[in-house]
Amino acid sequence: MNERLKITPLGPHIGALVEDVSLSRPLSDAQFEQLYHALLKYQVLFARDQPITPVQQRALAAQFGDLHIHPVYPQTPEAQEIIIFDTHDNNPPDNDNWHTDVTFIETPPLGAILAAKTLPSTGGDTLWASGIAAYEALSEPFRKLLAGLQAEHDFTKSFQEYKYRKTPEEHQQWLEAKEKNPPLLHPVIRTHPVSGRQALFVNEGFTTRIVGLEEKESAAILEFLFRHITKPEFQVRWRWQENDIAIWDNRITQHYANADYLPQRRIMHRATILGDKPFYKAS
Ligand code: SIN
Repeated sequence: MNERLKITPLGPHIGALVEDVSLSRPLSDAQFEQLYHALLKYQVLFARDQPITPVQQRALAAQFGDLHIHPVYPQTPEAQEIIIFDTHDNNPPDNDNWHTDVTFIETPPLGAILAAKTLPSTGGDTLWASGIAAYEALSEPFRKLLAGLQAEHDFTKSFQEYKYRKTPEEHQQWLEAKEKNPPLLHPVIRTHPVSGRQALFVNEGFTTRIVGLEEKESAAILEFLFRHITKPEFQVRWRWQENDIAIWDNRITQHYANADYLPQRRIMHRATILGDKPFYKAS
């Protein structure tokens, strides 16, 4: 059996296409090692023509680590670890901002695996940005200012109460999720636990303030950083086809799902792999 994966970079900073692998079947150790190595290097990987069931997607994700069960998103009946994003006119997205997944917990995800199930006739691309490239583009004095600072991340910034009141059960689930996920702190610059590279680790989806700064200083710096990460220089944009799969390193990237296709429908399945506690170590 040919165990060599074909990996083709899609740009200078972020993104690669993976070929010559079937992601619905368990990967051999050699295949997994190549995939993980490529993930560390390219930060987000894409594969075409990979039909995958929720149970197979869970098994693929579990090769990377323990899985997260989302507190409010709907899950597939076959596997509760697989989130369903079913977006249409009556269910507009709540994640159409630049964000890193689930930074409202102590150990935000290492990564995620997204599978395209139903796509609009056009539109619905997803963009990923490299927090490493964004960090490296900052001036040395500004990097020094950010080094060692902590920022607050809040579940309710993206998951706002008014969006979760369609039924009493949904509202109760939101109340419990809020209770279980109080605001917490992560470093503004995160050191990748494996590669040691530094990356910007604040995101518009969940980050509310930088602690220790005056309110206006914090707001101005966050506003700058949220805008900085959206520079096309740091990004890759993926035009989905059905049965495509994307795998990203959530520790050093952010993404944006473009909701330009409404009122058409778009269905995606995501598995989310738990990570470790973010830290900053001076290089
Ligand atoms: C996500 O935010 O994890 C989903 C992105 C997408 O639907 O393209």
